[in-house]
Amino acid sequence: MKVTLSVIKADIGGYVGHSSSHPDILVLARESLEKAKKQGLLIDYHVTACGDDLQLIMTHQQGELNERIHRLAWDTLKAGTELAKKLKLYGAGQDLLADAFSGNVKGMGPGVAEMEIEERPSEPVIIFMADKTAAGAWNLPLYKMFADPFNTIGLVIAPNMHTGFTFEVHDVKGHKKMSFNCPEEIYDMLIFLGAPGRFAVKHVYSRQNNEIAAVSSTERLSFLAGRYVGKDDPVCVVRCQGTFPAVGEVLEPFAHSFIVEGWMRGSHHGPLMPVAVREANPSRFDGPPRVICLGFQLSDGKLIGPRDMFDDPAFDEARRQANQIAYNLRQHGPFEPHRLPLDEMEYTTMPQIMKRLEGRMTEL
Ligand code: F6R
Ligand code: MG
Ligand code: MG
Repeated sequence: MKVTLSVIKADIGGYVGHSSSHPDILVLARESLEKAKKQGLLIDYHVTACGDDLQLIMTHQQGELNERIHRLAWDTLKAGTELAKKLKLYGAGQDLLADAFSGNVKGMGPGVAEMEIEERPSEPVIIFMADKTAAGAWNLPLYKMFADPFNTIGLVIAPNMHTGFTFEVHDVKGHKKMSFNCPEEIYDMLIFLGAPGRFAVKHVYSRQNNEIAAVSSTERLSFLAGRYVGKDDPVCVVRCQGTFPAVGEVLEPFAHSFIVEGWMRGSHHGPLMPVAVREANPSRFDGPPRVICLGFQLSDGKLIGPRDMFDDPAFDEARRQANQIAYNLRQHGPFEPHRLPLDEMEYTTMPQIMKRLEGRMTEL
């Protein structure tokens, strides 16, 4: 059976500040998706939040970029925005950049990750959702899952994974894409993946059967809007087991905290902290950036779950590491490399300061 899994997300208002989501907004979103399920448009859904981002996880048979599904998401986010305005939540509707819906939500502000699959006899899927960071944050973990045998032993000893994976990489500034076959092209690929502010993995495919293995949201809100409107706070869907990495291999990259762009004012480097859903409320210096992870078994499109995959003491060490890194980086205050380089910062006062001090700047 062909099933489409669509994750559409947006920050439509923070509670309090940018730290979390108000429970009433989640209730509203559930009611909206429940109605669509009753009408037969959705097979199933799950609504959650990571920090100030509302996450609509939906299954259906309408395919990717489907107008009815995207309109449902858009209308839900719009209705949520109205409620956010009533509650005077912070930044109500901040990610909804367009006024009117036009076919699908791509380029309108929300993040989208969708995959249409032929559901296997057993179909475990993992959905990662992050707050206070950008789409390139998935580059390192996706590389480890699908190309690094020190993370994924299946690449070495599982015959159906030994052929490797193909990565589709997007240049989010240049609006171009390129594919790399791994393992033979990893050195070429890493020059791009190692620059996550510009290049982001959009899709990963199995070279065994060309099946989709992973998809992420790669929208860059700041490029869409032409000004700072918040970090993308991306999502990523990964299929597991069989020809794909095992669930444990998919989670393993998060056993260490690694450093991503985002955090306070989208203008800092900070550790990505894997947490249970109840702990995804970034508050310290608006962070540190969080990632949550829900696991589902698909059953004829029904979402059996979720399991809160980072709600496991085995990730305590990664959380501790993240706090250590956070303490260390915070000591740098406004200095790089904690603060992003000038051209990467989402907020800057540089042009105004340069203009004011123009006359005082002399030749060396
Ligand atoms: C980062 C983020 C927050 C805000 C910060 C300032 O992605 O959402 O760190 O940038 O709280 O917010 P404003 O400019 O809305 O007052
Ligand atoms: Mg916000
Ligand atoms: Mg956010």
